[in-house]
Amino acid sequence: MGTDARGHDGGADATDVTDVTDAGERMGRDELAALQLTRLRATLRRAYDRVPFYRQAFDKAGLHPDDCRSLADLALFPFTTKSDLRDQYPFGMFAVPRSEVRRIHASSGTTGRPTVVGYTDGDLSTWADVVARSIRAAGGRPGQIVHIAYGYGLFTGGLGAHYGAERLGCTVVPASGGMTDRQVRLIQDFRPEVIMVTPSYMLTLLDEMERQGIDPRTTSLRTGIFGAEPWTEEMRREIEERLNIDAVDIYGLSEVMGPGVAQEFAETKDGLHIWEDHFYPEVVDPLTGAVLPEGEAGELVFTSLTKEAMPVIRYRTRDLTRLLPGTVRPAFRRMEKITGRSDDMIILRGVNLYPTQIEEVLLRTPDLAPHFQLRLTRQGRLDALTVRVEARRGSDAGRREAAAASVVRAVKEGIGVSVAVEVVDPETLERSVGKIKRLVDLRGA
Ligand code: DLL
Repeated sequence: MGTDARGHDGGADATDVTDVTDAGERMGRDELAALQLTRLRATLRRAYDRVPFYRQAFDKAGLHPDDCRSLADLALFPFTTKSDLRDQYPFGMFAVPRSEVRRIHASSGTTGRPTVVGYTDGDLSTWADVVARSIRAAGGRPGQIVHIAYGYGLFTGGLGAHYGAERLGCTVVPASGGMTDRQVRLIQDFRPEVIMVTPSYMLTLLDEMERQGIDPRTTSLRTGIFGAEPWTEEMRREIEERLNIDAVDIYGLSEVMGPGVAQEFAETKDGLHIWEDHFYPEVVDPLTGAVLPEGEAGELVFTSLTKEAMPVIRYRTRDLTRLLPGTVRPAFRRMEKITGRSDDMIILRGVNLYPTQIEEVLLRTPDLAPHFQLRLTRQGRLDALTVRVEARRGSDAGRREAAAASVVRAVKEGIGVSVAVEVVDPETLERSVGKIKRLVDLRGA
């Protein structure tokens, strides 16, 4: 199989090197850049011609799609934000008649109107291709069994992973999230090599295995493809050691496609290669919007290059990372593991803090389990942060106290702010079945 006119790659070709790559992945950097420019110009035209929101935004900026003559010219065009998508609820961002939209996904909408996204047949095929490519990069191979414990439904995790695994030629177990004891039984009985799940729900599954008297290191699992929420190198080590697998990172967001926008390779575990033949990345200064040079940290922005139903132009993800040159696939740039979202940033007495920084400290502290919650309260006119974390089983009162004191010290020294630490009994904090919510904001309470 090759690449068709719309750029939908087939599965892996049947010959030598091509067993582990598709046609898109075999492009050189120059070839990729030329393809990107062609696709970018077509996407800008499509958005301008078919979506009134983009026509107005470009007109207001005094720009026409033909003003984009190089990839760098993209920086002239206006950003698109989550609130723009909300304003167009439900179908205002679509660039095709509704009858050509084959599937809808949507954000949970816990903080306002949900954001709705749509896919044509072609988009669903592209999505399956990039997820198949991602699973392959993670070490998955045709013929293996893939257990999918991302939620199925409006969330893109379950169905996105599902069709990608099928496209690769795997046997899919569509477990979805929840019913944790049954998930463990299915893993024991069906013997999957690959699991796709949020890292926080993987921890829940690990605890359940232990509760059932199963040594997680003895399961059939070899590869874990974890994403949908930030997780740290320390969490990777915790999961890899307890489960005896390769744990790799998958990134994506529904506005841009879903899972499979970028993927870490198992052989290097050095950040995520962005599938740039379909998604064009920029990193910008979150305050000024200026495009930052490669290597500088800022907010990730994506422009879709092949999407039909809902092209996105310079979509501000609010995710913080930096771009780096490719390694395993030199033509594709990498993004560093996400450190956090600008929305998750806690400003504590003038100091910026992300939940991942606390995760790093906790997981380096003996006697503490990887289950924690951050509680933000107001004391007088100042905000206070309490880290609630579970003790590991078997750790006594003295060791818990020492662990708490060590976290207080490490946070003060490493991040420069004072927090309170409460070490609670094992199995007392709420467990994740999907995306975990680390921060509980009690300041209004
Ligand atoms: O979470 C898509 C997805 C599903 C990705 C399964 C990976 C695996 P949304 O619900 O739209 O889509 O949420 C997107 O989740 O902007 C990030 O803030 C966060 N996120 C996703 N993947 C990662 C990751 C899916 N690997 C939002 N690391 C994104 C850190 C991630 N954050």
